[in-house]
Amino acid sequence: MAQNIGILITETYQKKLAPAQAVELWEPGKREVRVKVMAAAQNPVDWKQIDYNFGNLPLPYINGFDAAGVVDKLGEGVTKYKVGDRTAAFSPLGQGAKYGIYQKYNLARVDGSILIPQSLSFDDAATLPTAFWTAAIGLFSLIRFPLPLEGDKLAPLAQAQAQVEAETLLVWGGSSSVGAMAVQLAVASGLRVIATAGKRSFDYVQSLGAEVVLDYHDVDIVDQIKALAPNLRYAYDAISEHGSTESVLSSLAHPASEVALVLPYAGTVPGHVTRHQIMSGAIYVPEQAAELARLGTLWQALTMAGRLIPHPVRVMPRGLDSVDEGFGLARRGEVSGEKIVYRPQETEV
Ligand SMILES: NC(=O)c1ccc[n+]([C@@H]2O[C@H](COP(=O)([O-])OP(=O)(O)OC[C@H]3O[C@@H](n4cnc5c(N)ncnc54)[C@H](OP(=O)(O)O)[C@@H]3O)[C@@H](O)[C@H]2O)c1
Repeated sequence: MAQNIGILITETYQKKLAPAQAVELWEPGKREVRVKVMAAAQNPVDWKQIDYNFGNLPLPYINGFDAAGVVDKLGEGVTKYKVGDRTAAFSPLGQGAKYGIYQKYNLARVDGSILIPQSLSFDDAATLPTAFWTAAIGLFSLIRFPLPLEGDKLAPLAQAQAQVEAETLLVWGGSSSVGAMAVQLAVASGLRVIATAGKRSFDYVQSLGAEVVLDYHDVDIVDQIKALAPNLRYAYDAISEHGSTESVLSSLAHPASEVALVLPYAGTVPGHVTRHQIMSGAIYVPEQAAELARLGTLWQALTMAGRLIPHPVRVMPRGLDSVDEGFGLARRGEVSGEKIVYRPQETEV
């Protein structure tokens, strides 16, 4: 019988994480599967949840959202998977240690997961879930661009382009994992994309399909955007701090502009702009069930078509016992244009 170990957060505002320790081997419930986690990918919210006590979760808990692995056991009513299938899943927020990713075995909800093809490594697949849901909710649930789908398959590009009528989207922060996904989803939807990034990420962001990439450090960045898109209507701010939102708002000129933000904004939003606040974790509330299914179909179709380029991966040594070190890198702002990934099965016990 398999044994489970994980990284337990045992104190509010915990500064140093203990090494992996024995935790329960969870039993999957209705419409859930147990997953042998082969790759767990870190997001900024993982360390912020500890440092700012987000969600005030009952202790002890295991956090994290993005995992890829092998289906190990089926819960009641699961028909999408069989044992041994390869999957990537987005964990629900704050619903218990069993869904956290920093463990050898976790549970995944079938409706927030996809089958992954053999061509996609577990490390790469683990970079997709949060980035996909955060980008997709902003673009398709909030701004409500049409989905580039024909049934459950991707629509031909010309058809997607016809649906959005040559609109331009500004993606601020195209080299962040969420921004890189927003660029790709927008391009698949037929939008013309202008992105911002640091200079060393220009080639990467262009390889995702952005037509133009501008350096967000340039003092005249807003003028550059306005020159390229004088009547800009749509923007996705994948950073939403350090002045990005002010620059994005100044770039929007259309009288019915819309912007999707990944963090709350306390400043003033001009009257011609509708602001959408993204809360990716809210996709699991019961009222969002139809949206979860609709966007899940897109995620599966894009992945099977090989259309999502995973974020560059930095695999940490020592499996789960490197999580404390990885959170430290992120806290110090030392994660740039890459995703920190752990392989829980490589943890020494
Ligand atoms: N609302 C939600 O549901 C939700 C969900 C997921 C994430 N988030 C939030 O979204 C943000 C991004 O997350 P992530 O995982 O995508 O981050 P990430 O990949 O760790 O972002 C790092 C990247 O951001 C770029 N960057 C930093 N400051 C920038 C600026 N002022 N302008 C443009 N680019 C800048 C950096 O580029 P350079 O190295 O080139 O400077 C770096 O490549 C985080 O704050 C996260 O907490 C929110």
